[in-house]
Amino acid sequence: MARIYGIDMGTSSLRIYQKGDGLIYNQKNAIAIFDKKKVIAIGDDAWKMEGKTPANIEVTYPFRSGVPADIKNMVTMLNLIFENLESEHGKMTGQDFMIAVPTNITEVERRAYVDLISETIAKPKRIRVVDKPIADALGCGVDIKEVTGTMIVDMGADTIEISVISYGGIVTGKTLDFGGKRMDDSITAAVRKYYNFMIGPKTAEQVKIMLGTAVKPEEEEIETKQVMGRNVVWGLPGRIALDSMFVYLSLKDIFELIVDAVRNILEHIPPEISVDIMTYGVHLTGGLSGIKKINRLIADSTGLPVYVKSNGNESAAVGLGKIMDDKELDILAERYTDNEIID
Ligand SMILES: Nc1ncnc2c1ncn2[C@@H]1O[C@H](COP(=O)(O)OP(=O)(O)OP(=O)(O)O)[C@@H](O)[C@H]1O
Ligand SMILES: [Mg+2]
Repeated sequence: MARIYGIDMGTSSLRIYQKGDGLIYNQKNAIAIFDKKKVIAIGDDAWKMEGKTPANIEVTYPFRSGVPADIKNMVTMLNLIFENLESEHGKMTGQDFMIAVPTNITEVERRAYVDLISETIAKPKRIRVVDKPIADALGCGVDIKEVTGTMIVDMGADTIEISVISYGGIVTGKTLDFGGKRMDDSITAAVRKYYNFMIGPKTAEQVKIMLGTAVKPEEEEIETKQVMGRNVVWGLPGRIALDSMFVYLSLKDIFELIVDAVRNILEHIPPEISVDIMTYGVHLTGGLSGIKKINRLIADSTGLPVYVKSNGNESAAVGLGKIMDDKELDILAERYTDNEIID
């Protein structure tokens, strides 16, 4: 029997699920290249180097805005990942692959996902694609066969994909072209403007994770953290204290855009499905759904029950695993017939 692998490739992270073994890989989707040629690190190791490398080492992200942008480096990275995984998880060549793909992409981009995997050393026997919101829903524990109206909001690094699902299919949806990274940038800009202080992108991300909140904090809830960076006036390294009210205010506009998009979709779906969403609610997933009180914000602004998946960044890959394990769900994985490799 062929092994089955499921892949969710995001702008920030890459996840691989293996039937039977579960989630076998979850690392940053980053690659470090020396002298524009030699790959010296991948995944979390490459990410750790970012912002600290000399001029001849470049850390790049092969995915941008949720789609493959640098195919050559992505194939190189996948080959290294597959090689590393083989010793523990068995031979990866000639097996079955399922790829979670965003829904708002062009046919050419969809094709690029398939080509990417077929060009690796895995040389899959069969490649199938699954709409990411469907994989997300399964990963969130939604009983896709029964549910007649639920909303899935996958909040990633560069995209926020909002989808309404009924009877295992996508009724409607919208993808916002921003996510957690836009929030990091917004924090960086606010710190620079109000404190004349420069922080790096990783510090900004940490600030978002530690102090970010989707609902205005009460006086007694305000938390403070020291962060390191560089004073723009003196040009010297230093530290300042940031608090959760400051971070909330720097993110507020972005939260408003998310709420507006969610409400806009709810306003345009057929009434029968709206009624069912009252029952089945909204599922928040993706890494950014870990931000504090995002469930409160969406619940208060829609009046719907809201659920948040812990380890949200794993949900699409875990959902692919559910399809592998349940024959009745097999129909959700679509063969990419255009691909000659398929048997
Ligand atoms: N606890 C947390 N609080 C707030 N943000 C978080 C938390 N954990 C992760 N994030 C953010 O989630 C984002 C990454 O999410 P995820 O791994 O789902 O993205 P991705 O799938 O790689 O990207 P995309 O789907 O946009 O291509 C990053 O912006 C990260 O900072
Ligand atoms: Mg994602």
